[in-house]
Amino acid sequence: MKIIAAVVNGVNEEYVLEELTLGELYSDEVIVKMVATGICQSDEALRVGAEAYPMPAVLGHEGAGIIEKVGSAVKDFAVGDQVVMAYNYCGTCPSCRTGHPAVCTEWAALNFSGNRSDGSYTFYKADGTPVSNFFTQSSFATYTITNSKNLIKVDPEADLRLIGPLGCGLLTGFGTVVNGLQPQTGSSIAIFGTGAVGLGALMTAKIVGCSTIIAIDIHNSRLETASELGATHTINSKTENLQERIDEITGGRGVNYSIDTTGISSIMKASIDILALGGSFAPLAVKPNSLELKPFTDLIMSNRKVVGVLMGDSVPQLAIPQLIQYHKQGKFPFDKFVKFYKFNEFNQAAADSNSGETIKPVIIIDESYRSRNDEPLIVFNKYFN
Ligand SMILES: NC(=O)c1ccc[n+]([C@@H]2O[C@H](COP(=O)([O-])OP(=O)(O)OC[C@H]3O[C@@H](n4cnc5c(N)ncnc54)[C@H](O)[C@@H]3O)[C@@H](O)[C@H]2O)c1
Ligand SMILES: [Zn+2]
Ligand SMILES: [Zn+2]
Repeated sequence: MKIIAAVVNGVNEEYVLEELTLGELYSDEVIVKMVATGICQSDEALRVGAEAYPMPAVLGHEGAGIIEKVGSAVKDFAVGDQVVMAYNYCGTCPSCRTGHPAVCTEWAALNFSGNRSDGSYTFYKADGTPVSNFFTQSSFATYTITNSKNLIKVDPEADLRLIGPLGCGLLTGFGTVVNGLQPQTGSSIAIFGTGAVGLGALMTAKIVGCSTIIAIDIHNSRLETASELGATHTINSKTENLQERIDEITGGRGVNYSIDTTGISSIMKASIDILALGGSFAPLAVKPNSLELKPFTDLIMSNRKVVGVLMGDSVPQLAIPQLIQYHKQGKFPFDKFVKFYKFNEFNQAAADSNSGETIKPVIIIDESYRSRNDEPLIVFNKYFN
């Protein structure tokens, strides 16, 4: 089957739309006709080489689409189902069996190797060159092969143009709060970086009842969005003194929880320095930077904790329907920061994400798609309003 995908042929190269051929469909896999996909900063991290990845590759791991074909062993999904795609996991290792599939022992092999465990590929160029997949998902394509474990069936009423980002960035922000930090009602939290991950965490902090929610960024436009979504305080760390503002907001006690989505060494250190006694910090960025700590003074003396959280430690099949429900109830209004782009605008969308102009770019792959209700999409939308 011939498809079109946005291919990255080498580190720092732009996305190029190319015709590829889908490989053989395995029995536990499905073919999804893509409707839309978010672009995550982790896609950008691979494209620019911050993390090594086998190229050429079809990136994308925030896809939403409709099942086109199912493998012979797939029982839970049928042709025509509306799905969001998240990460792949084995389902049988101790992590998977205890409800932590994001730390599946096979995670790297299944999501980051570019091919299946038998060495076969899901995409090929016309000359036979294999093309890596990403997250067994590769949503930057008109059709893709994915594993049934990547899939979350969604309400037929759900609008697939909007909900792809629930598969990674928003899932991560949500899960970091509910599973990673588990803040107490009435506690305080500081979130560094108000991109999709930070704002997902912020909306969740509000849902779980944090009473002080401090958003920190270097772009005032993003901080305005953070305020609209429930930040009780904002700090522009470029123009304001961070420590002074935190002291003023918390009466000198510091915050109970902090999250860093910037991956900048000095910011990660600041995220720990502003913690109250007993506070917890979750660093989330996919960046190679290190964090220097003096455990005795930075952690032990103050009973502070640093918590690693991958993909929000969430079970996507449980969390994503929950997030769709919160969105319907107006508690998780991520549509406020989505901007839509056309299929031939991957490079523009990525540039706008990098410059800070767009918080969550979503590429509409199938412009003919209409949701069941076909409610007009949000005002930001330049194609459907
Ligand atoms: N841990 C995980 O499972 C996981 C999952 C998804 C994404 N990620 C990673 O999370 C990170 C954030 O993703 P995103 O999509 O929200 O990215 P983003 O680029 O949209 O957000 C980062 C934010 O940090 C802000 N920032 C930059 N420098 C700053 C500074 N000095 N002070 C304060 N703020 C500053 C930026 O303006 C931006 O708003 C990325 O590194 C991404 O790869 C991790
Ligand atoms: Zn597993
Ligand atoms: Zn991601």
